[in-house]
Amino acid sequence: MSSNNALPAQKRNLPLLATRENTEGRTYIVTGANTGLGFEAAKHLASLGAAKVILAVRNDIAGQAAKQEIDTAAGTADKNVVEVWPLDLCSYDSVKAFAKRAETELERIDGLLENAGLAQARREFAEGHVLPVTVNVTRKRLGIQPRLTIVTSSMGFTVKGEWEQIKENPLTGMDDENLHMMQNYPLTKLVENLAVHHLARELLPVAKTGVIINTVCPGLCVTKLGRDAPHDVLANLRQLHALYGRSSEDGSRTLLHGVVGGVETHGKYLDSCEIAEDTAMPGWAKDPKMQKHTWDVIAKELDVAEPGCVVKMLQCAA
Ligand SMILES: NC(=O)c1ccc[n+]([C@@H]2O[C@H](COP(=O)([O-])OP(=O)(O)OC[C@H]3O[C@@H](n4cnc5c(N)ncnc54)[C@H](OP(=O)(O)O)[C@@H]3O)[C@@H](O)[C@H]2O)c1
Repeated sequence: MSSNNALPAQKRNLPLLATRENTEGRTYIVTGANTGLGFEAAKHLASLGAAKVILAVRNDIAGQAAKQEIDTAAGTADKNVVEVWPLDLCSYDSVKAFAKRAETELERIDGLLENAGLAQARREFAEGHVLPVTVNVTRKRLGIQPRLTIVTSSMGFTVKGEWEQIKENPLTGMDDENLHMMQNYPLTKLVENLAVHHLARELLPVAKTGVIINTVCPGLCVTKLGRDAPHDVLANLRQLHALYGRSSEDGSRTLLHGVVGGVETHGKYLDSCEIAEDTAMPGWAKDPKMQKHTWDVIAKELDVAEPGCVVKMLQCAA
């Protein structure tokens, strides 16, 4: 889902910026790759000659079905390229087990696409991101330039009013039972953008880490996101899909922009396969103090889930 005002101007038929040249032989993880944008992005990566594409999914049957479809389309069936790994972002234990497995089993990680999302999920970002540690360690060992791309949404910039009420303590603020479910989703996306901006720019500058971190809005795309939305919201969404929606394949090209983007994308918000920091991100969301505070709240939560993980991540960057 995306901000409604911008929809009539939403571009379609986006460029495919992932090429054989910048993808072949590389290793990628795509969370939520069994359907929608993640599935299409993973299919592109496998088709372009990636050596390994990990489909990180919470439903193994759906993951295996996606693998089969990708293998058929990409011609990778007998090449041991596409793998299905369990990952449930609702469970810290699952995230930790996944990160451990990635650390021990993968030689390298060239791109981590944190795509999985749920229209009414909260704190998905917080649960998903012990993985930068793995990405960063890989970079040092192999001298490569990995990407960490977090899929977000311009919807986050439409909830300034709600944000003002919870910004001091956004995580518990989003728990508030009075908050409408449909405000919750954009708030999670806003939190992602704010926190990642601080993380990338201030704590993990690319000059120090060699890891390119960016956020991507895929625009309004025809996927199953919003399947649990109330009936009236869903009916409206279907109309918008029909008028302005990108196909999930088209939308996946924005994710691929993030995962092959150069240093110029570090710490930036990307939209429609372009850096959209100045065009689509409102000034109030760029407040460095607010970004830092949002990151600090998340870091505290992460430290409870996995004591020492934030310090470890920052040490990796030093
Ligand atoms: N579609 C849009 O218009 C739009 C616009 C802006 C941003 N986005 C963002 O784009 C990303 C992809 O969404 P989509 O449109 O492709 O939606 P989708 O078709 O609903 O796919 C979402 C994926 O996330 C997975 N997922 C959800 N909760 C999970 C959890 N707890 N653990 C692991 N995986 C989980 C889903 O798995 P299951 O199949 O098991 O549920 C599915 O694979 C999301 O971050 C979304 O917020 C989408």
